Amino acid sequence: MAGLVRVDGERLTADQRELSAFGRTPSGGVSRTSYSPADLDARRWFAARCTDAGLSVRTDGLGNVMVRLSPPGADPSRPAVWTGSHLDSVPEGGGYDGAAGVLSGLECLRRLAEERVALPRPVQLVVFADEEGCYHHLFGSTGLTRGFTSEQLAGRRGRDGTRLVDALIAAGLDPDAAARTGISPAEVHAYVELHIEQGPVLESAGIDIGVVTSIVGIGGGTVRFTGRADHAGTTPMPARRDALRAAGHFLTRLPAAAAGVSEQAVITCGLIDVTPAATNVVPATAELQLDYRDTDMSRMQALADAIVRTAQAAAQECTLTAEVHFEDTVEPVLLDAGVEDVVEQSAASLGYSSRRMPSGAGHDAQNMARIARAGMIFVPSAGGRSHTKEEYTSPGDLERGANVLLETLTRLARDD
Ligand code: GLV
Ligand code: MN
Ligand code: MN
Repeated sequence: MAGLVRVDGERLTADQRELSAFGRTPSGGVSRTSYSPADLDARRWFAARCTDAGLSVRTDGLGNVMVRLSPPGADPSRPAVWTGSHLDSVPEGGGYDGAAGVLSGLECLRRLAEERVALPRPVQLVVFADEEGCYHHLFGSTGLTRGFTSEQLAGRRGRDGTRLVDALIAAGLDPDAAARTGISPAEVHAYVELHIEQGPVLESAGIDIGVVTSIVGIGGGTVRFTGRADHAGTTPMPARRDALRAAGHFLTRLPAAAAGVSEQAVITCGLIDVTPAATNVVPATAELQLDYRDTDMSRMQALADAIVRTAQAAAQECTLTAEVHFEDTVEPVLLDAGVEDVVEQSAASLGYSSRRMPSGAGHDAQNMARIARAGMIFVPSAGGRSHTKEEYTSPGDLERGANVLLETLTRLARDD
């Protein structure tokens, strides 16, 4: 449509390809876990892209990166319109989760700068640190919206046992500054995040754009079964107190535990640590790291209770003990109806089809929604695949999403 500024789709696709090289694995996936050398290289590449575009870049103590555009006519004291996402990935993930939103945001800022579009408010892009939660679900955006105290940060370890403080120092960040990342809600007029859908809905319905209405709640925790190490050849099967066998009983019952809470409830165990970890020793301990989700906060509690009951039953059957520890829950949120309207109208003004839909994946937007009006734009994921190397969004779909983001940011920045 005449009059609307559009993104440069070829530049966006080229950026996406270049960025995907950071953390590329032999199998063709992307492993860019937070604060890893690949993550830091990607961040340096991204900062250079911003500097090339004449944009100012600032990094906080947790590694959240803020990129600011002050358009002609903008009053720097007015709350900015924010967009953002993340550059870290899960191990053996793909090149679009998070990257799509960061690169689209960068492309929007560049186009606004190139066209010298006059806007009354600043526009800010944020790259959140550790969205994938090596240290806490949505770690960087939690630090930005709620802040962490020095005490909360001091003893924190990653899921692989790394001390956070060591990871921050190795990444060139200042652990003292990590306790000063909280921002004021008054800094944010609205937040809009573009992300790949990570599910099959848009592609199978042939819809260009998802207008996200809500984001699922996410809980995390550990279940530790403690039995007894014994000789694998001489200990009769009934006499064993095998921690891994208890873990097996527990895992096979999780589908029923989730189904007993709601149709939307999901529980996942993607990490197990067994000791002493030898083929000829009966496992003495098995520690399982869990991720559980539901769309309703009261059901999140019911899900946690079901996990405890299921772990205790499995422990009893194997004559051993189970301890369960839960992390802070990232609450489910409803996104802002007004921002949803702007996204929907922006898509329509560009001639794209759209549909309102919930998100079953977690996003930094759910933290931003605690402090500001927040919305999200989904673009289709091929085959609905994500968190795998098969993750793919076509250049056309990405470009359409970025155009909707640009139009949405522009409209929000023109709010009174
Ligand atoms: C983020 O990718 C999540 O875990 O949903
Ligand atoms: Mn992810
Ligand atoms: Mn993501």
